[in-house]
Amino acid sequence: MRKSFFLFVLLMLMCATCKAATASEMRTLVVYYTYSGVTEELAQEIADNCGGTLLQVEDHGNYPRPESQTTYNYANNERSQINAGNWPEIKTSVESFDAWDAIIICTPLWNGKMANPMLTFLHNHADKLNHKQVALAVTSWSSGPNGVVTDAHNTLPNSSFIGTTLHINYQHRDDIPEMAVEWLNTLDFELPKTNKMRVIVGDKVFPATLADNYTAEEFRELLPLTFNMAELNGNEKYYYMSNNLTVDEAVPDMIHAGDIMLYGRNCLVLFYDTFETSYAYTRIGAINDPTGLAEALGSGQATVTFELAEDIIGDVDGDGKIAISDVTTLIDLLLNGDDINDKSADVNQDGSVNISDATDLVDLILNGN
Ligand SMILES: Cc1cc2nc3c(=O)[nH]c(=O)nc-3n(C[C@H](O)[C@H](O)[C@H](O)COP(=O)(O)O)c2cc1C
Repeated sequence: MRKSFFLFVLLMLMCATCKAATASEMRTLVVYYTYSGVTEELAQEIADNCGGTLLQVEDHGNYPRPESQTTYNYANNERSQINAGNWPEIKTSVESFDAWDAIIICTPLWNGKMANPMLTFLHNHADKLNHKQVALAVTSWSSGPNGVVTDAHNTLPNSSFIGTTLHINYQHRDDIPEMAVEWLNTLDFELPKTNKMRVIVGDKVFPATLADNYTAEEFRELLPLTFNMAELNGNEKYYYMSNNLTVDEAVPDMIHAGDIMLYGRNCLVLFYDTFETSYAYTRIGAINDPTGLAEALGSGQATVTFELAEDIIGDVDGDGKIAISDVTTLIDLLLNGDDINDKSADVNQDGSVNISDATDLVDLILNGN
């Protein structure tokens, strides 16, 4: 178990540098609806084989049982109501999908289309699934999956659909385990881009976070960068880069020590003091904890390296090492009650960050396992 966990971690680290990833290398959520159990079996197989988190969508409990023409008619009438904008109740909702990079949707086909409860779940969460990578698996008695595929694309217009749809009909039911594995192997997800950076001054490493904007994305593509930055006003170091970036300037209320800003289209500024300003900048990111930054930069020119920091499991403070400081950072985060979506903090890789990750991290530091 421990051995396979570490092989998994190693694989994660190796794959941080390559583009495509399988579902096992992603943080994957397998969300499914089932009326009579077939899709549940499929979802279970998929989750077991990719280490994904399972989530069942629960319906309102009013569908007529056992399955008969009455059930089909009920579902059909409900679908007409959906088409008129009256969505049925479901019992399942998700606050945020931030803990997952890939979502595998498993649904039965009803009357040629997506089963109403799954359609409702996707409709209710479409905004939260924007830009998420999704893959689709459909079970039916005999009908082809096209109606379900159309429903999925119409309901999630801003999600990114990966691979071809897996379809299981009644002839394939005994082959679900093999078909699930085969299909998973065909899925090429894209590893999410990290927003973690390191700013290195001499022998000091300052973990930093890129801003969530287009300029920061352009800057990320240029990394790693090392500049001899000039001194200005006792509060900033600056460097005119050869690349012009897209700008979206604003006058910040305050400049904070550790802010990484763009002045104009190509002047990179690293602030090491906190003060009010009337100048406009585009935010690129910030050093997480600027303690010691001013001392490291000194009073003259400073050589500064900006580089991406891939997620290392257990390196919660992002300094590139796994040490006791990561345990204290993780406990601080847990005590603050923040939602933690940091891959490096999910030490046991179960899709959520909690106190068991802190104990596993201590174990990892003390015993190397
Ligand atoms: C309300 C309803 C409508 C259905 N409509 C179709 C259909 O149009 N074509 C088809 O091949 N199967 C249809 N089925 C069968 C299911 O798609 C199939 O049995 C599926 O694998 C069941 O998955 P589950 O056991 O996870 O609920 C329907 C089932 C129900 C309950």
